Amino acid sequence: MQERLEKLLQEGLDELDSAQGEYGLQSWKVKYLGRSAELSEVTRSLGEFPKEERAEIGRRANEVKVALQTAYDSRAGELRLHALEQSLSDDRIDVTLPGRPIARGRIHPSNSILRQINHIFADMGFQVYRSREVETDEYNFELLNMPPYHPARDMWDTFYTTEPGILLRTHTSPGQIHVMRERAPEPIRVILPGMCYRYEQITARAEIQFNQVEGLAVGKTITFSDLKGTLISFAKRMFNENIGTRFRANHFPFTEPSAEMDIECLVCGGEGCAVCKKTGWVEILGCGMVHPNVLENGGYDPEIFSGFAFGMGPERIAMLKHRIDDIRYFWANDLRWLEQF
Ligand code: PHE
Repeated sequence: MQERLEKLLQEGLDELDSAQGEYGLQSWKVKYLGRSAELSEVTRSLGEFPKEERAEIGRRANEVKVALQTAYDSRAGELRLHALEQSLSDDRIDVTLPGRPIARGRIHPSNSILRQINHIFADMGFQVYRSREVETDEYNFELLNMPPYHPARDMWDTFYTTEPGILLRTHTSPGQIHVMRERAPEPIRVILPGMCYRYEQITARAEIQFNQVEGLAVGKTITFSDLKGTLISFAKRMFNENIGTRFRANHFPFTEPSAEMDIECLVCGGEGCAVCKKTGWVEILGCGMVHPNVLENGGYDPEIFSGFAFGMGPERIAMLKHRIDDIRYFWANDLRWLEQF
């Protein structure tokens, strides 16, 4: 039996030397120190040995067990240390390296101006209303007081679709009819921002796609003074508290009377320059009192109700604010330009 124990010790130590990794180590432990290991069997069956040998075998078995356990502990420590060193050298992190900046997107200048416009009008109690970009001839023209073949339609060069009567809206004004038909006879105070499309030669001053923000107020006591007051307040907040403004008479088929609003040229401060064509003033929007026919088309009795409407171009406002001299930059998707905002 003694021999058997010595052999067990030797085998155990040899095998431990070649045990690799956590799994190898655990298998070794089960085999040599586990409950059904040969060594445990010996200890358990001590009673079967002759009396005089019993003490000696027990003592030696215990020594072997202690030796194996000690060897196991030190081997396990070795392997753990090795694993730690391995992971430290494999994924080394140098915390002193400089950070790599994250590329961030930005708000497009059109959207940024749109948000400012929404904000200013929201403060004055205007709700934001969305309306479709693909429109019918009826909404884009007819219901706005422009019957078929009416010469005023020439003011808007139009993209027609192959579907008769369906077109890309040339302005946000058809949204006026949509809101009125939805709300009549309730009072209305909304703005309608969104893209418009015109069949035009693209130049520094004209694009085939652009944003507009339509404004519409309908109620029982609305006057031209309300229109002026609202738009002057808007200009003060959009540009600056001391901005000069003026209204010029104009014509739109869907408003009567109609006007255009100018602001003092921001580039030259009113002295006269290339941007304002030496006049000191630049136009920023069209506006007027909603035409009785349009009120009626929207479901409001023009004898009882009145309203004002306006339409402005955010890109035009962005151009004035940021001194952008070519509208084509807005949709050119040139990072060198976009990154400046
Ligand atoms: N829809 C007009 C345009 O595109 C602007 C406008 C809107 C004028 C509302 C008067 C009232 O030119």
